[in-house]
Amino acid sequence: MVAIHKDSHYSSFHRFLFLSDSGLRCMAGVSVFPRRVKLTRGFGLTRQRTRKGALSVITAALELKPPPYSLDALEPHMSRETLEYHWGKHHRSYVEKLNKQIEETELDNMPLEDIILTAYNKGDMLPYFNNAALAWNHQFFWESMKPGGGGKPSGELLRLLERDFGSFETFVQVFKATAATQFASGWAWLVYKANKLQVENAVHPCPSEEDKKLVVVKSPDALNPLVWDYSPLLTIDVWEHAYYLDFENRRPDYISTFLEKLVSWEVVSTRLEAAQAKAIEREKEEEEERKRREEMKRRGEEEEEEEEEEEEEEEEYVQIRKMATTDDSDKD
Ligand SMILES: [Fe+2]
Repeated sequence: MVAIHKDSHYSSFHRFLFLSDSGLRCMAGVSVFPRRVKLTRGFGLTRQRTRKGALSVITAALELKPPPYSLDALEPHMSRETLEYHWGKHHRSYVEKLNKQIEETELDNMPLEDIILTAYNKGDMLPYFNNAALAWNHQFFWESMKPGGGGKPSGELLRLLERDFGSFETFVQVFKATAATQFASGWAWLVYKANKLQVENAVHPCPSEEDKKLVVVKSPDALNPLVWDYSPLLTIDVWEHAYYLDFENRRPDYISTFLEKLVSWEVVSTRLEAAQAKAIEREKEEEEERKRREEMKRRGEEEEEEEEEEEEEEEEYVQIRKMATTDDSDKD
């Protein structure tokens, strides 16, 4: 059972979603228990509004967005055949299946990120989770690459990679090892960990890491770091369908080619900038919330004090009246 409540304290882009406590379990080595999820709008598939059915219900189908380059633009590192198959069939299929699953439901006009968080359901995933997350992951993956990519990042991104991994070369080793060791199908991610707010939907996999840090994580199947409240910056799809046509079963070669020839570090830098801005915004919201609660508490305490003072004054008045009455009696 899902209930959505708007909280007037937060902007219209923020909602809290409370999910059922049923079906708690561990998944992929990550323990999952009831938590509260903050939903935000952001990256997601665009929607095409259509009028459907005899009742003319307005629905908004999620659209399959093409990669930001032609399907042969990544050759010779990723072939046109791979893109035709991977984007044209697999990715298309996730979007189409998701649209069917959510058609004319309460999810129909929800941003894709919110659909993912709703469907994750504290690890007890609802049927549309896989298609929603895979639709998001694939668009994010296509946009992580560009023709003539690779090389080395610069600026703030490089500074943080060097700060958090020791050197860019060490980050590359960690990312390669993480992607290579994801058992069976899944994803490797570079994320910005800034989960200062409540992550009520899942326990994140790096609890000992400090916030405001770059972290490399992997996820099985469709799972993505949005459910841990991380900000994804870069991902590589390590499902076999992503590389088999070009590299057969040589996943390490595919990963090296991705990093050395395809990654768009400019896109990753832009995502980092957005993630840091979001973290600052969240801190402001948290601070405002803290002040609001303190003020409410202070007012509550003041009211309590005033009530106590009034009671004491009343008691004093009663005592004085008694004494006055006694004095009058003595005079008589
Ligand atoms: Fe894929």
